[in-house]
Amino acid sequence: MSRRRRFVLGIAGLVVAAIVAAAGFVWGGFYSVAASAPHNRVVEWLLDIGMQRSVVAHAPETPPPALDDPALIVAGLRHFEPNCAPCHGAPGILPEPQTRAMLPVPPDLATKIDRFNDNELFWIIENGLKYTGMPGWPAAGRDDEVWAVVAFVRLLPGMTAEAFDALAGSPAPAAGAGVATLVAEGPPDADIAACARCHGMDGGGHPSGAFPRIAGLPAAYIEAELEAFATGRRPSGIMAPAAVALSAAERAAVAAYYGAIIPPPVPAAPPADDAASAMAGALVATGDNRRAIPPCASCHLQPGVDAPPLTGQFANYLEAQLRLFRAGTRRDQVMTTIASLLTDAEIAALAQWFAASPPAVPAPMR
Ligand code: HEC
Ligand code: HEC
Ligand code: HEC
Repeated sequence: MSRRRRFVLGIAGLVVAAIVAAAGFVWGGFYSVAASAPHNRVVEWLLDIGMQRSVVAHAPETPPPALDDPALIVAGLRHFEPNCAPCHGAPGILPEPQTRAMLPVPPDLATKIDRFNDNELFWIIENGLKYTGMPGWPAAGRDDEVWAVVAFVRLLPGMTAEAFDALAGSPAPAAGAGVATLVAEGPPDADIAACARCHGMDGGGHPSGAFPRIAGLPAAYIEAELEAFATGRRPSGIMAPAAVALSAAERAAVAAYYGAIIPPPVPAAPPADDAASAMAGALVATGDNRRAIPPCASCHLQPGVDAPPLTGQFANYLEAQLRLFRAGTRRDQVMTTIASLLTDAEIAALAQWFAASPPAVPAPMR
């Protein structure tokens, strides 16, 4: 036998022995999967480096949106408080006790996240982390919502409990009985579904546009959208937890409550650019025959037609929805087609135009 041959056989023997030993190790159940027993130092170090390198390798390179936008920060915080703080805690909020028995223990993000850049945080929150209990984002195609959470999480290092409470907003006013309690506090044991936490008792939304105005929308529309959020047909990781927590009867009750409210005054919209506003006004009133775009007014400014009123709604919300229709993330037979024909400039101008028009007074329910 040549030396070369002996060498090759030797290596092959070692490989077979290693496989047999590894199989024996696994089959014998020698490695403890108990969450109560920590990994040994080497395994822990390998897992942590492996996680960091994987995040760096997979994070997208697209530039983040402006993360100092108050609409993003507020939306991120109101989602974080009931959905993430039970595991990670927050300023002034301790994690749920059972998370201390998880392996790995969900870290205090304030002390941990500076090692990741914005895109890496985005990737972690969108995808979650395998074998750790860290979940991914529950709605596909909602990068805008994931960025909102990144915008908030970035502020955690150094944030005091007072600053957190101030951003979280004052608790909903003391409620009366029945449906007002449901709106203010959510169903028993499900305060995640307290609509007023985000939309206000008066349905006026949040002045930053983080949460849409829903006062005076047709009750049937509100009810249909709640069902669409609950089933995921209208994907939103922020609305879904609230919608899912309600029974069908409760969805009907809160829809009737908000549908019957006269919309509160609209916060002053910034002055519109004249040319953009004229272009939008023409699309609203007459559409564009050449591109087969019907006039928005024929549905949205027409009482008795099954379309939500858009006047007085926040421009950033309307713009985001038109983009979601265009991307096919939010689906509707009519609107998906119409939005796919609109340019970015038209979408922005139309959103401004509707936001600057006085809100519709609720029509009697059909
Ligand atoms: C069921 C508990 C749980 C929930 C809910 C949860 N996480 Fe986590 N999270 C974890 C665990 C466990 C890790 C893994 C830590 C590790 O690998 O060491 C983690 C890791 C992270 C990390 C990486 C931190 C680091 O430096 O290692 C970020 C960022 C994060 N979570 C953000 C969030 C956000 C934002 C939410 C809410 C949308 C959330 N998490 C919800 C358990 C949870
Ligand atoms: C954590 C904050 C939060 C809570 C709590 C919440 N919402 Fe929302 N809501 C949102 C956000 C954000 C949107 C925009 C969703 C999107 O971009 O798809 C929204 C959208 C909606 C819409 C769609 C409006 C439209 O014009 O199409 C309705 C209707 C609605 N919410 C009703 C409710 C009701 C009723 C409750 C209580 C059961 C509730 N929401 C609880 C944040 C919240
Ligand atoms: C043929 C009727 C029709 C026409 C024309 C129409 N829409 Fe709509 N639009 C609807 C319906 C119906 C919905 C509700 C879809 C749903 O249930 O998700 C809607 C929803 C919307 C929404 C989301 C509202 C919200 O509160 O979330 C926006 C924004 C919107 N339309 C903008 C426009 C614009 C801008 C135009 C004109 C370029 C237009 N629409 C033309 C029927 C129409």
